[in-house]
Amino acid sequence: MTEAMKGKKNSILLESTEIKGYVFSNRYVCAPFDIAKAENNGIITEELLTIYGSRVGPSLIIVEQAAVAKAGQYRERLIFTDRDECINGLEKLANVIHQNNQVAVMQINHAGSAADISLTGLEAVAPSAVIHPTVKRSMPRALTVLEIKEIKEAFIQAALRVKEAGFDGVEIHNCHGFLLSQFLSPLTNKRSDEYGGSLDNRSRLLLEIVKGVRKAVGEEFLLLVRLGLDDFLSGGMTAEDGCLVAEKLQEAGIDILDISTGLMSPLSLPGPAMLRELLKKAKAHVTIPVIGAGALENIEIAADMVEKEEVDFIALARKIMKQPNYVEELLETINTKV
Ligand SMILES: Cc1cc2nc3c(=O)[nH]c(=O)nc-3n(C[C@H](O)[C@H](O)[C@H](O)COP(=O)(O)O)c2cc1C
Repeated sequence: MTEAMKGKKNSILLESTEIKGYVFSNRYVCAPFDIAKAENNGIITEELLTIYGSRVGPSLIIVEQAAVAKAGQYRERLIFTDRDECINGLEKLANVIHQNNQVAVMQINHAGSAADISLTGLEAVAPSAVIHPTVKRSMPRALTVLEIKEIKEAFIQAALRVKEAGFDGVEIHNCHGFLLSQFLSPLTNKRSDEYGGSLDNRSRLLLEIVKGVRKAVGEEFLLLVRLGLDDFLSGGMTAEDGCLVAEKLQEAGIDILDISTGLMSPLSLPGPAMLRELLKKAKAHVTIPVIGAGALENIEIAADMVEKEEVDFIALARKIMKQPNYVEELLETINTKV
């Protein structure tokens, strides 16, 4: 902290921190939120470059979910990471973020039973043949073990492309009802093989992906998981189980834990700071830095949470979607108040 910052109210949010040599100039993160502005084939557009370039302020930008495979496409015009042809555009995106002195991370995802089959033209797949409890799209087909291994490989290859494009890290999407949260949840995972049943089995694919990605990208590349800690649905994943998964992720070598909800979207919960209790629980189980989101635009609340070590980074989505330089203004407000 500089001399000028000392004594300023809420200045903890301006504190820089370093992880594996990457400098995070403050405690704000641009959360991943899909804006569906890629080409229909998943290639980065000029429009996307302009929008990401205007998101000044956060020290870390986590780029919206990018599909690792066609069958895992959730909605129209998502970014894709499923083939080498995508790398050139991703490189331009990483450059735009770096020009703003921000750490650049890309989120990668497979939608599972939440995929839009009218776009993919492919059968939806999932851990088990269970209709998605919240999105309620088509009845998926249960994946074979061979197909599960192919999906793991798709995540690894996607991470390698993100690295080749010049990003600083990759985030595995394991929340909001997409494929990996479908594996974690007893409501959507009814398998009786090594990928279903016990928590160890339900978290096996996530852990295999994390270990496979780490081995492929090396130790210097940042590896994040956005973990849905709690399904907030009766009979679903509980925060207690989520915390055990968080511990395993730390053991497996992830660098930052990003916390959100499991099968349910966080947007269905009342704010402000709707995930505060969840974040506290997760943070108590790990020593690696934790990112939290969920209506955290109030500076006092955000600073209190960081001060009390309930979370290390504050992520914002909808505010930045409405106003791309929202965090820059927040930082100025903090900077001018004594
Ligand atoms: C339109 C929209 C798209 C979103 N897309 C993603 C996404 O791609 N990946 C993800 O992890 N979360 C996604 N989210 C959730 C946000 O990252 C965030 O967790 C949520 O909006 C709560 O934060 P907020 O109150 O600051 O908006 C999305 C949210 C919105 C509103």
